[in-house]
Amino acid sequence: MTMNSHYQTASFYVSSGTGNSLKVSGWMQQIAESQGIKTQRQLIDKHFQEQEIADSEENLVCIFMPTHGFTAPWSVMKFTFRLSRVRKTHAAVVATQGRLQFGKYFIPGLSASSTFIISLILALKGYRIRGVQSINMPSNWMALHSGQKQANIQRIIKKAQIPSEQFIIKILSGKRGWFSILNGVELILGLLLLPISIGYMIYGKEGLAKLFFVNHRCNGCGLCADYCPNAAILMSGKKQKYPFWTFKCESCMRCMAFCPEKAIEIHQPAAYFIFHLSSFATFFIILKFIETHLGIDFQCRDSSLFRFVHYIYYLGVWFLYSILVFRLTRIPIINRIFNYTTLTVFYRRYQEPTTSLRDFNNRE
Ligand SMILES: Cc1cc2nc3c(=O)[nH]c(=O)nc-3n(C[C@H](O)[C@H](O)[C@H](O)COP(=O)(O)O)c2cc1C
Ligand code: SF4
Ligand code: SF4
Repeated sequence: MTMNSHYQTASFYVSSGTGNSLKVSGWMQQIAESQGIKTQRQLIDKHFQEQEIADSEENLVCIFMPTHGFTAPWSVMKFTFRLSRVRKTHAAVVATQGRLQFGKYFIPGLSASSTFIISLILALKGYRIRGVQSINMPSNWMALHSGQKQANIQRIIKKAQIPSEQFIIKILSGKRGWFSILNGVELILGLLLLPISIGYMIYGKEGLAKLFFVNHRCNGCGLCADYCPNAAILMSGKKQKYPFWTFKCESCMRCMAFCPEKAIEIHQPAAYFIFHLSSFATFFIILKFIETHLGIDFQCRDSSLFRFVHYIYYLGVWFLYSILVFRLTRIPIINRIFNYTTLTVFYRRYQEPTTSLRDFNNRE
């Protein structure tokens, strides 16, 4: 045990798209090191190398992640499931959430079920959960809104440092960090919003993955593919290669934020149209049409098989859309038209200001 702390060692596992969760983990790691704790930090990404976790009450495991769709990203859930089983090791979970500022007014983010889902998985694996915390950082969801002004970003980040440090100091001193009004509210809203979170994971995430395309500035450098944490980008093309987004994408926004040419866009009007085309209602109309015109009777409408077939249809529509956009946007005039009918062409890109692409290098 160290002078001030309950722990001798601490491992920080971090999932981060645009650097917010990485920044928060950095503040906490500094505090842990200042208390003489031996720490290590690793990114949760395609380069992650599994290690044995010391099964000891003097070892702390902390998981950091962004909130996606009011819950934890799927990659973090998978990662937590794969962590080695323990009996004594302590754990804490931190989710960053997207805060917005308009003039004097702050709109807080909502991490809802994020920290609780990861805690539950950790508890099932034998970890003793010491606390959870959500931290408001600037929202990075550039599919929905423009990156905020630098002054607002700085203000939000400054406000986030105090609760981050208070939380880790509490955990390192051996106290629990569960019981707070904030955690109570997040838990209740997390449960209420669970259907939306499940819908986001099954449908939203897959659709959003297919909305990215590149404008005329893309030079095929491949940085976006190299640094994608999920290996979700394929560089495709005969002479010149361009990025193609697969369903592995989790919309973490890293590629969009860090592309040196600001070449990655999202087409919201197409999203609106394709979400309708791929919806249950449209699928139902298509089946009705086939029934009346081809005389085939689909009897399994309420069954889970029917839902499954719709899901295949849903993925198929998005996949075909992405292939079509990939091909058509190679034609310069179509690329320009497509580009100038997006909202992202007007949006600022957001990245945590002190984070650079190099900070996401997990290769030792
Ligand atoms: C696809 C997506 C979904 C998001 N959903 C939420 C959400 O449900 N609640 C929230 O507060 N913030 C949400 N955000 C904002 C991020 O969680 C927040 O900005 C986070 O700090 C980003 O961290 P990172 O830079 O470490 O990835 C979302 C962002 C993205 C890109
Ligand atoms: S989108 Fe950006 S990072 Fe990716 S290949 Fe094109 S220019 Fe390079
Ligand atoms: S493709 Fe881009 S948005 Fe999707 S997971 Fe990779 S870096 Fe993140």
